[in-house]
Formats: sequence, C-alpha cells, structure tokens
Amino acid sequence: MMTKLKNSINKIAPALLESWMRDYYFSTEIDIGSSGVENFSLTELYKLTNLTQEELDRIVFHDSSSLGNFELRKAIALRWGNGDPEQVMVTHGSSEANFLIMNGLLNADDEVVVLDPCYQQLFSIAESIGCQLKRWELRFEQHFLPNIEEAKRLITPRTRMVIVNFPHNPTGASLTKKEQDALIDAVAEVGAYLVWDAAFADIVYEGSPLPNPNLRYKRSISMGTFSKCYGLPGLRFGWCLASPEMLERFVHLRDYMTLHLSPLVELIAHRVVEKADNLLSIRLQQARVNLNILSKWVEQHQEFVEWSRPQGGVCTFLRLRYISDSEAFCHHLANVHKVLLVPGTCFNHSSHVRLGFGGATSDLNEGLSRLSKALVTDFKF
Ligand SMILES: Cc1ncc(COP(=O)(O)O)c(C=O)c1O
Repeated sequence: MMTKLKNSINKIAPALLESWMRDYYFSTEIDIGSSGVENFSLTELYKLTNLTQEELDRIVFHDSSSLGNFELRKAIALRWGNGDPEQVMVTHGSSEANFLIMNGLLNADDEVVVLDPCYQQLFSIAESIGCQLKRWELRFEQHFLPNIEEAKRLITPRTRMVIVNFPHNPTGASLTKKEQDALIDAVAEVGAYLVWDAAFADIVYEGSPLPNPNLRYKRSISMGTFSKCYGLPGLRFGWCLASPEMLERFVHLRDYMTLHLSPLVELIAHRVVEKADNLLSIRLQQARVNLNILSKWVEQHQEFVEWSRPQGGVCTFLRLRYISDSEAFCHHLANVHKVLLVPGTCFNHSSHVRLGFGGATSDLNEGLSRLSKALVTDFKF
C-alpha cells in the first residue's frame, strides 16, 4: 500500500520552491524571497475598490459556474483579453490554470519547449505527463536576455507546445514587443500551442505591458493572477484565456478537482478587476522605489554579488561571487538572521539566489542590511 502511494506521488517531481517556502515563509521575520508585491488587507480593498461590507454580508454560498461568474469573466476579458467572456475561465491562482492547461493539452512523448531557469510548474507538469522537454536557456552572461534565434532553432514541426513567462521569474528578464511577435510567428509557423504565463505582465519598468498573444494567435493560452502584481496571493484567484474548445477540456478536468471558485472569492475578485489600476499604481510606484534601493545596494556590494537589472516583475536572480552552495547560505540566512531568501537550487542554479523586492520598503531595507551582514561577515572566505 505504502509503496503504491509513494510511486504515484513520484509521478511528479517535488516542487522545490514551494517546499522551501513551507519551511521558511512562516518562521522568518523578513521576506525578501517572495516574488510578489506587498499584500493588501480586506480593509484596504474596501477603500481601493467599490467593495462594501454589505455586499459581503449578502453572499449566499451557492455553487458557482464551472468557468466562473459571467460578469466577472466579462470584466477580465475587457481588461486582459479580447473582450469575449467566452474565452475566459477563472481559476484558483494561475497554478490551477497551469495544471489544467498541461493536463488538458499534452500527451506523453509530445515535444515541449520550456525556459531554463524557470518556475518549476511550467516544466514539471509537462515532464510528469511524459513529454520531451527542450530547454530555451536564459544565460547570466547574456543578462538573462532571451535569444529569439535560439528559440527558433528549438521550435520544430514536432513541437506541440511552447511555454514561456515574461517578465520572467526568477530573473525579471523580458521580451520586446518585436521579439514577442517573432516568437508568436515561430510558434504559429509550426501550429504549436503557445502558453503565455503573464503572472508578472502588469509590472514593467519601461514602456507598456506586452499584449496578450491570444489577440494574434488562436492557439495561445495565457494565464493571469492576483498573486504577484496585485498583492492578493491568499485570495487564490487567477484566470486563463483560451478558445472555448480548450476551456471545455479544462472544465472536463476541473469536474474532478475543484469544480468552481467560491462566490466569496469571485465577488472580491470582481471588484478588484474593476478597480485594478487603483491597486496596481500604488504597488508599481513602490516597486520602482524599491528597485532603486536594491540597485544602490548591489552597487555597494559588487565585491559579493552580480546581477542583471530586472525589466519587469519584482524579483531578480543575484549571482553570489564567493558562494557556490546557495542553499547552505539561505538556510543560514533564515535560521540565524530570520530572513527569507530563495536559493537558486530551486531553479537549478546553485550559485544564484532569488531576491524579491516587492514588499514593504522598510522590510526591504532591513532584509538587505541583514543580507549584507551574512555576506560580508559570516560568509566571507
Ligand atoms: C511564473 C509563475 N506562474 C505562476 C505562479 C503561480 O502563482 P499563483 O498560483 O499564486 O497564481 C507563480 C508563482 O510563483 C509564478 O512565479
């Protein structure tokens, strides 16, 4: 019995980042590891959106519909999609969308192009299905900038799906609009699916967010979430934009998993979508301030760290000059200095760490000061 259970669990690799967070998210004092902006409270949401206590009191906990409340889907379609609510499904964070997309569209032996490094869900689910992965590398030596020519070489008539996430977790690298177009063209040429994880799309430091590829290419699927740019990870709200035929496949799977979202989550999410700019503008401003603080800190610590300044999102993938075992360093930082940082081993890069700079500015300052101490005093070789 136990062996059977173990084997079935081992069908999918353990999620390294989530496991690290389980160990340290609640036991540290300062978080400079998470990849989202500072989180909002319900009281703040009352002020920033039109949500009222009376509306919450009126909720009856009916079932919701499989794809989500229609008015909510309409609001999402207008802001992030092509205006058609039939192409929107709301999900429990974009994690659920990821799971549904891969399991709904992939089969064993399919060839799938993924980024490296990459948020693990975006390749481990495909791997667990038995797909053949081809890795599109983002290299530190090239400032983690995606090389479109390389992607074009990897995409062949055998490619079933290309999965990308820009701005990128953990590096903050992104594409230009021209590069995005070239990528869409390359995927369209072979008729593969393009999965566009837009978790960080709304925080960019120059220009405007990249458009949703669904506007140009029918076989693309994109995901969004309130967990990263909107400071609401605990709401567990996300969405998936895809053709009605693809959404039907996802509902088929959802019928065995989560069925639908809670009307409580849908109501709050609806008000947030309607006033999304109110939340975003505050956090974007804070992200800019924090990025400048981080940038000065990196300059002052050049002897110890190297980086590529992020183009979007609120995390960066620092390279540690003297430390090859980032995991030992991050354990030390968490246990001794009570600071949460994510070791690069969660992304298969052991001499890097993921640093999140989206939190409260006072926390970032305190976290960086404790990080300096660990780098300069404790780990100087
Ligand atoms: C690129 C990316 N996609 C998706 C997710 C999943 O987030 P959520 O399920 O909270 O929306 C994460 C979380 O870290 C992420 O970094």
